Amino acid sequence: MKRPIVLHPDPRLKTRCAPVDDLSVDLRRLADDMLETMYDAPGIGLAAPQVGVTTRLIVLDCVKPDEAPPRPLIMFNPQIVAASDEKNTYEEGCLSIPEHFADVTRPAEVEIAWIDRDGNPKSEVFGGLWATCVQHEIDHLDGKLFIDYLTPLKRQLITRKMQKLKRERTRV
Ligand code: NI
Repeated sequence: MKRPIVLHPDPRLKTRCAPVDDLSVDLRRLADDMLETMYDAPGIGLAAPQVGVTTRLIVLDCVKPDEAPPRPLIMFNPQIVAASDEKNTYEEGCLSIPEHFADVTRPAEVEIAWIDRDGNPKSEVFGGLWATCVQHEIDHLDGKLFIDYLTPLKRQLITRKMQKLKRERTRV
């Protein structure tokens, strides 16, 4: 089931999310719903606070649809274990901040540890777009958005435009 996406600014997007200690049926359903919501958007990553749940859960799939079969990943309690000194800059966007994009520089490679949908511990080194995406989504769990990497002026400009967009949407 698709879930509505929370738009910036919203206190749920500024919250440090709580770790998962028990993989309930509800949490697995939430993860499946998040993947459905992400693919439908369409997007390449989604964090639980973006559907209003302040729990440490992210989903992602950075495979380009025409290039390879999809690779949906569900990560509970994802953690950055190691990060490369080498950096990479990508133009980032966010489903909670639609139609705004900006360059963000992050480590080019990261090793991530997480708990998968079946409760098994996993770890993997990600590079390229996967590395950027997984760091962007983990940031969400700490109440951090990609616009927090921009200058205060740019951030305020985007936030004001988003406030206006939200007012327009609630009026409809
Ligand atoms: Ni985002």
